[in-house]
Order: sequence, then structure tokens, then C-alpha cells
Amino acid sequence: MVQNNPYELAREAAAALTARTFDRFDVALVMGSGWVPAADVIGEAVHEIPFAELPGFTAPAVQGHGGKVRTLRVGDKNALVFLGRTHLYEGRGVDPVVHGIRTALAAGVETVVLTNAAGGLRPETQSIGDPVLISDHLNMSGANPLTGTTFLDLSEVYSKRLRALALEVDPTLAEGVYAAFRGPTYETPAEIRMLRTLGADMIGMSTVLEAIAAREAGAEVLGISLVTNIAAGLSDALLDHQEVLEAGRNAAERMGRLLATVVGKL
Ligand code: 6GU
Repeated sequence: MVQNNPYELAREAAAALTARTFDRFDVALVMGSGWVPAADVIGEAVHEIPFAELPGFTAPAVQGHGGKVRTLRVGDKNALVFLGRTHLYEGRGVDPVVHGIRTALAAGVETVVLTNAAGGLRPETQSIGDPVLISDHLNMSGANPLTGTTFLDLSEVYSKRLRALALEVDPTLAEGVYAAFRGPTYETPAEIRMLRTLGADMIGMSTVLEAIAAREAGAEVLGISLVTNIAAGLSDALLDHQEVLEAGRNAAERMGRLLATVVGKL
């Protein structure tokens, strides 16, 4: 039976997933737009299941966002890789956005790696194709996956321990604050000036709600943005989704190796 309680629905999806793949998972990785090519570098797929075959998942609306789950073995870990995610801008509400994370948590995952494509707000120090570790976020999406009176502590959403691990693997990684808007429009130059004033370093349309859902269950979160373009008003270039995908393809090798090494060290 398909449930209308989102946590029950995630348990149902986890049961369907584990029945067809591994018994349990240690780590989940969400591959954002531009990151799908990096998944192939992490390791060889053991299983692949289209989202349409799992309870509660819907195919992502946008090109480059994939639409399946893949399992891998990385060292002695069972890894669950989401090739594509649901975004708030699709208009289905917040539960579908975090359903993959809740499914992973229900399948035993205690570590969640969230990747995304982001606009860079600091062209003075950022270049297109740079991976940036997310140190914290500004949730400006207007949504929250939690309801009720769970006043969850968010003082360390993005694990210091996991960031240190990633920095051991690649000491050249920068860190930054990721701001999320609902989208689907990109920002105006005035909004970008506001975000810079507020201390944001990257801007995107994902990740923050998934990170909150993971923290609700006590999982450790690692977040990495790939700077795929410079945000509006900070450079002469106009924003183009194709450019986002191309930056991902160009950085795939580096990103995939980083993720594989970090997961291997968990
Ligand atoms: Cl500039 N803005 C938003 N909201 N998302 C993005 C982006 C910019 N670049 C890539 N993703």
C-alpha cells in the first residue's frame, strides 16, 4: 500500500529498495545537476533502479538530473547513489524533495553526501569548475521538511569531521556558505548583492531541505557545491543550463575521485 505519511512512504521505499539490492546501506550520495558524470568515476554500479519503480519517487523534470538510484560498493561500504533529485520549484511540495534522503535513512544510512551545481557569489576567489565544501547554509527557500514542534538544532548541519576528511583528501578545497532559493528563476543582480551582504558564497536551488531531513535523523552530512557559473550581475555572462551541465562534465573526474576517496575513509 502506498502511504500518505511521508516517513511511512520512505520506509516502504526502503523496503522495496533493499528487497532488490543490498540489505542495508552505509552512505547515500545525491548527485546534483552536473554531477551525474562523476558518479561513474566513484565505482561500478551493482544495481540500478529507475525512480518510477520505487514508491514515492517521481522522475525529475529537468535534463541532466538523471532519475534513478544506483548501488555501489566503495571499499567495505554499501553506497546508494541518487542520479537526480526532486526540487522544490517543481511544485510538488517539500516531502518529495526529501523522500530520497528519508528512504536512505530508513535503509540504514548514517552519512549523507549532498552535491549540487551552484552559482558563485565570489568571483574574486572562485572559478567555474571549482568544488566548494559547504560550511553552512542560508535556507531562503521558504520551506522546511519538518513540521510541528521539533526545534531541531542546526548549529552543525555540515559535519566538521567530514569536511576535515574531505580537506585531507584535497587540501585545495575552499569552503563556503550555500544559500538556497526556491527557483526556478535565477536571481536578479539585486538579489545577488543581498546574498553577498548576508554572507553567502554560493547560490542554488537544492540541498538545504535534504540536509535538514538528514539532520533530523542524526545523520552526518557532507555538502559540496560545484561552481558552474558566476551569479547574475557579477560577470558579463548570461546564465544558461547547458553551461551548468558542461561544467559538471569537465569536473567529473576530479569530483568522482574526491567522493570515492572520502567515502572510502568514512
Ligand atoms: Cl546563479 N542561481 C541558482 N539559484 N541556482 C544555480 C545558479 C544560480 N547556478 C547554478 N545553479
